[in-house]
Amino acid sequence: MSPTHKKLLFIFGTRPEAIKLAPLVRVFSNHAGFEVKVAVTAQHRQMLDQVLAFFEIVPDYDLDMMKPNQSLFDVTAAGIKGLESVLEDATPDLVFVQGDTTTAFIGALAAYYKKIKVAHVEAGLRSHHKYSPFPEEMNRIMAGHLSDLHLAPTSGAAENLRRENILEGIHVVGNTVIDALFLGLDLLKGPKGEPIRQSLQHLPINQRFVLVTGHRRESFGEPFENICHAIAESAACFPDVAFIYPVHLNPNVQEPVHRILGGLSNVRLIEPLDYPHFIWLMERCYVALTDSGGMQEEAPSLGKPVLVMREVTERQEGIDAGTARLVGTDQKVIFEALHELLSNEEAYQRMAKSVNPYGDGTASNRIATIVGKYLSDTI
Ligand code: UD1
Ligand code: UDP
Repeated sequence: MSPTHKKLLFIFGTRPEAIKLAPLVRVFSNHAGFEVKVAVTAQHRQMLDQVLAFFEIVPDYDLDMMKPNQSLFDVTAAGIKGLESVLEDATPDLVFVQGDTTTAFIGALAAYYKKIKVAHVEAGLRSHHKYSPFPEEMNRIMAGHLSDLHLAPTSGAAENLRRENILEGIHVVGNTVIDALFLGLDLLKGPKGEPIRQSLQHLPINQRFVLVTGHRRESFGEPFENICHAIAESAACFPDVAFIYPVHLNPNVQEPVHRILGGLSNVRLIEPLDYPHFIWLMERCYVALTDSGGMQEEAPSLGKPVLVMREVTERQEGIDAGTARLVGTDQKVIFEALHELLSNEEAYQRMAKSVNPYGDGTASNRIATIVGKYLSDTI
């Protein structure tokens, strides 16, 4: 390694962080001026490994810390302790964290404890509700205040940071989720796409289908049951529409989903899909019904109406653009919103428009330029 090389360490632990950091790992790895290392907390295991395999990322450090039904205390404590020795060994010039997971927060905190600079990817999103999304709103705020470079996906996110008196190091770059989506869609067009298409033929993809995901902690218990009842009611009302639901592996999700929706003839409960399979399905779905952050960003890009099963969102741009609608976790509200989209073509077309409020697929290249300049100026 030449003495001018800068050492970058990417720290992540869950599926969405891996998807959103993978294009950046790729861009920096192909760049002669950087030495790239990857540390995974493995806050997720199987769902993380699916993404690592697809993007061909082999971690240099793996804390392998996931435990069944882990608490926030488990993740925070195991992660912060595990990262101490990773940072001592890797001695990076800059640490990257992404988003709002507990791994993102403790990654930023661990780097701060070692006085290492932090770049926060997807900085500045705010719902302005401390407990929704929980604990993500506070995770993102804390990671932001610990960071030196704030890579905001939109101008609204940058403005949120300024309102919190974070005034330096903010750059509006778009969201790397769109870079990942374009990479994945490109791959699907090529020869590697054929086996993916084939392996999904057993699903009811040749009819209208709703693609469902859900996993938010603040919805566990009754709100999550309401979501499931709304899906059951919709499935009964629209027997010609399929509901395809790759169920998140969290036991708090698995139990009510299988209890309430298992055995319904037009509801297909499947294992989490790896990323290319999932976006292939998303490209073909009629409606996305979700509480996921990433899907709120991907669906507008694909022109898919998305019903967001949350009371508030930190991703307002899709709502403003008209492709996303907040429906909360009330059974009646979710059912009525789905009913309208499935039965009223005009209402459907109003939402089914392709817009890109979250980026144009070039966020990673922009970030590489910004980081190169930042490191040569400051370190
Ligand atoms: C985490 C993040 C959330 C993010 C979500 C993406 C926190 C606090 N939560 O929530 O912000 O939106 O990931 O999916 O950072 N499990 C498995 N295998 C896996 C993944 C999870 O079995 O590959 C099960 C385990 O029982 C695990 C549980 O799910 O204990 C919860 O995982 P955890 O990462 O703590 O929370 P998520 O709800 O996945
Ligand atoms: N996703 C996936 N397989 C699935 C469900 C989702 O690859 O079975 C992808 C999806 O395209 C998006 C990301 O996972 O990029 C969203 O992750 P998740 O919903 O777990 O977390 P969130 O975005 O809410 O933080």
